[in-house]
Amino acid sequence: MTLRVARDGAGAGAAPASAGAGEPEYVALAGVTKTYRRDGRETHALDAIDLSIRAGEFLAIVGPSGCGKSTLLRIVAGLHLGTSGETRVAGRIVDRPQTDLGIVFQSPVLLAWRTAIDNVLVQVELRGHDPRAYRDRAQKLLEQVGLGDFADRFPHELSGGMRQRVAIARALIHDAPLLLMDEPFGALDALTREQMRLDLEALWLATRKTVLFITHSIDEAVLLADRVVVMSPRPGRVERVFTPGLPRPRGLEARRAREFVDTTEAITDIFLARGVLHGAGRAGGAT
Ligand SMILES: Nc1ncnc2c1ncn2[C@@H]1O[C@H](COP(=O)(O)OP(=O)(O)OP(=O)(O)O)[C@@H](O)[C@H]1O
Ligand SMILES: [Mg+2]
Repeated sequence: MTLRVARDGAGAGAAPASAGAGEPEYVALAGVTKTYRRDGRETHALDAIDLSIRAGEFLAIVGPSGCGKSTLLRIVAGLHLGTSGETRVAGRIVDRPQTDLGIVFQSPVLLAWRTAIDNVLVQVELRGHDPRAYRDRAQKLLEQVGLGDFADRFPHELSGGMRQRVAIARALIHDAPLLLMDEPFGALDALTREQMRLDLEALWLATRKTVLFITHSIDEAVLLADRVVVMSPRPGRVERVFTPGLPRPRGLEARRAREFVDTTEAITDIFLARGVLHGAGRAGGAT
């Protein structure tokens, strides 16, 4: 699988929400809607989503709170079913919880009574495998996320960023081709968040997983993704898709690149036009 850094888009211009012709689609949503019904009340969360993610692509979704981002991720994972439409992963229709993927949520949800490495190994135990066979791999993954010396620490001995790194290692232990991340850095301070962003890009470049990454941060989306999907307020629709053609690794310098500035401004303008952001001048720092 080759690294796909899209350079064909017009930078701050729009791009299709589906993979180009001839490109293998790993995740494909066609006309997916979701309406939650509870106690006679309805919430129309998603409105006809057509979206695909190529194998090995890093796709980010940015959108206002409540627009259905987590709903969409859960539909891809098979944790929720769409009300209509069709979702496929690796060509197969998703109609039940999927096991061949890793998920990282905003909060790491570690087991307090297990060490870091044993938290990573939970994932293989749940799949009925012998954790002893995965111990070396778990240690290596912890090293890759910068926690080589912390394998035997308990969650309360780790910082928030470290805990989230354990959760990332846990999502990768079974080497699933698809990684779903739902605001994985949302609870972190700005500096840790920037470092996690840099480390995630390095990890992705090394593993070439297909990634669906959800964030509220426009900067983070543009700095990490091959394509950035901008969603409208609820009911969530694909408002526009951007293809930041920044060279990789994007590191810290990418923030100064013309294309980064143009793309983040274009996305900010969409949120201003939609009333998601308010402000007299440009909403600087509105990430
Ligand atoms: N299990 C559920 N039952 C009923 N309504 C739900 C459920 N999950 C989500 N919703 C509703 O669906 C809408 C979309 O929720 P969702 O969590 O997908 O949004 P989101 O874009 O992830 O928001 P945020 O950015 O705040 O995490 C919201 O109005 C929410 O109240
Ligand atoms: Mg959410």
